[in-house]
Amino acid sequence: PVYVYDGDLLRAQCRALSAACGDYPHAMHYAIKANATLAVVRLMREEGAAADANSGGEIEVALRAGYAPDQIVFTGVGKSRAELARAVSLGVKAINAESPGEVERIAAIAAGLGTVARVAVRINPDVDAESHPHISTGLRSNKFGMSVDAARAMVRDIGTHPSLKIVGLHAHIGSQITKTAPLSRAAETLADLALSLRAEGVPLSHIDIGGGLGIAYQTGQAVISPQDYAAAILPPIRRTGLTLVLEPGRWIVGPAGTLVTSVVDLKTQVVGAGEPPRWFVIADAGMTDLIRPALYGAWHEIEALQPRPGTARLCDIVGPVCETTDTLGSGRLLPPVEVGDLLAVRDAGAYGAVMASNYNRRTAPAEVLV
Ligand code: LLP
Repeated sequence: PVYVYDGDLLRAQCRALSAACGDYPHAMHYAIKANATLAVVRLMREEGAAADANSGGEIEVALRAGYAPDQIVFTGVGKSRAELARAVSLGVKAINAESPGEVERIAAIAAGLGTVARVAVRINPDVDAESHPHISTGLRSNKFGMSVDAARAMVRDIGTHPSLKIVGLHAHIGSQITKTAPLSRAAETLADLALSLRAEGVPLSHIDIGGGLGIAYQTGQAVISPQDYAAAILPPIRRTGLTLVLEPGRWIVGPAGTLVTSVVDLKTQVVGAGEPPRWFVIADAGMTDLIRPALYGAWHEIEALQPRPGTARLCDIVGPVCETTDTLGSGRLLPPVEVGDLLAVRDAGAYGAVMASNYNRRTAPAEVLV
């Protein structure tokens, strides 16, 4: 199996999202978690995007791709002491702190190193992103960020540490968001808090709205355009005059990636009297290459790359892994295919290769940037 990325589309997506913010001061920090392949991250840097890292490993990817530390924001709900020490000693643009305990750890590390760490506070705005529950992060019941009141207390605490500098506020309410209302509610909450902190004399330089913009995995699926997105988040941010930081991942790389897999076997199973048989198309890619269908019940369009003539029929396109959930798509209409034929699994550029595993001791899929 091979992931193929369309470099022109990656560049176009990057530009379109930035253009939607118009001349309002903004910094786009590409969310490396969506696709950490060096060639892709380098291309983002060439396009002028900065970086959002979610682990020490992603910080190393950003550095290898040529980013300077002050172009990296570091987020994550469970940063280890070693990861924090690396981020502080590098001097990243902002560590998005998720708890009072983390603030104390950053302060101690920075004091020990005789430096000042730039910190932003991640708030949990208690907003339902109305996405899949597994990838919604903005509710009080989720592990992410702190409530507005707790965040305000954290900001005040940061002000008492000579080794810390507060630079911003952060929120990320979820991924694959297809409605504007939750995003504008999150932006309003961030803007209100920023304004009230300013009234207290706390100087901030940016508001980071996170990522989350969804894409159409199925033809005709209703999504938000970059223009709708900007129209939802910019008015509240504009009230503050602060630089807007965005952390898009999926919207940029998702549509630009295709997983190409070949058919390794075909079979029919008789299910029961009076029921049509099931047609299984067994591919050489499965949940170890693309886990989204198995993990979230996600839909990816699947096409035969060189369709053969004949009547299309409903098939289950499955992988080689020893689990029934190892299904790329069930009940899909495919033209006749034969062993060796290639299938394209679309919109797999985000959270595809990065979530691959070696389960069944399978090797990682290849990746190619075109
Ligand atoms: N910023 C933070 C703090 C995040 O946690 C995420 C994604 C992003 C930015 C980028 O969000 P995006 O623009 O890509 O929606 N594996 C799941 C998605 C998990 C998203 C995790 N956080 C999937 O395959 O749908």
